[in-house]
Amino acid sequence: MRQDSDDRRPRHALPRLLRTAGLASLLWLGTSATAAASQGSAGTAVQSVTPSPPAPAAAAPAAVDGPPMIAADGKIVPGPPITPQQVKSARHPRYPAGWTCAECHDVSFGVDFVSSASRQYANNFAALPQEAIWERIVQFLPGRERFAMATAHEGRPVATTVDMVLDKEEKVFYIVSEKGTEKLMQLKENPQFSAVRADGWTVAAGGARQWVSVQVNGEAELIGAQDPRFLPTLEKYSLVRISKERAVRRFDIQRVTPREIVLFDTTLLKDGQSPYQYWNRPAAPREAPPQGRTPGR
Ligand code: HEC
Repeated sequence: MRQDSDDRRPRHALPRLLRTAGLASLLWLGTSATAAASQGSAGTAVQSVTPSPPAPAAAAPAAVDGPPMIAADGKIVPGPPITPQQVKSARHPRYPAGWTCAECHDVSFGVDFVSSASRQYANNFAALPQEAIWERIVQFLPGRERFAMATAHEGRPVATTVDMVLDKEEKVFYIVSEKGTEKLMQLKENPQFSAVRADGWTVAAGGARQWVSVQVNGEAELIGAQDPRFLPTLEKYSLVRISKERAVRRFDIQRVTPREIVLFDTTLLKDGQSPYQYWNRPAAPREAPPQGRTPGR
């Protein structure tokens, strides 16, 4: 179930209270000491924790050059535990690009709409306008593109590949697949759809360190061979190259209506944008409510 995503205010007022009371340094020493103790004998994988000096801004008037820089030496500087909904304030210490909140904070991540690490990025970094996100999606998917699709049967997930063609006007995808495959049977059982196309840096290929992906979440509708849309769709999108007679016997088409598309691009961070950008399908235009009645909510 979706939680209210409007509530972006930090829920923990404690750090701020302490700071106002001039106790920030105590908090600092406390958290750092605890973290250092808990990591004491943890072995080679854990970096040593060196507390940076407490934020000087506490009682003093706002420093000219803004909040202090921490972690520039690559060492973790622990902050208080936070919820994934909390947004860092303007007085939050600055830290080098590329760090995640969870590296310095214990974050109570969850699986709902607002509690994931990706949403935490979206909450704390800028969102592109919807049209700009859509343009990038279109750019990333110029033709017939290969996606990894997830389906499940009796709770057991299966990841398979599908070719998807984007209809830029209707903002839907078309997929042609062999009739009777496991993935198709599972999609019929549950038309909730999720697929991702990913590209980017690999150890073997090297090159620029950029990771890009497009995740399509929505609903699939089967267009079987008996459907009047079947042949026109095959032709319009040049979906297959075999004869109509064979195609009709062999394939099913899926029409996927995305509810949400998640664009991921690591290079967005350098401009202060969230690497996760959420495109949402605009609500379908509603018919005018009947005269003389106020639409109920
Ligand atoms: C390099 C370590 C580091 C990273 C990364 C980091 N924080 Fe913090 N954060 C701290 C420290 C240290 C404090 C305590 C600062 C203080 O009390 O002056 C803090 C304080 C906070 C606070 C309370 C005070 C405030 O500024 O609002 C919030 C909320 C917070 N962090 C959220 C976040 C979120 C969200 C992210 C990721 C987008 C994040 N932090 C990333 C170290 C970090």
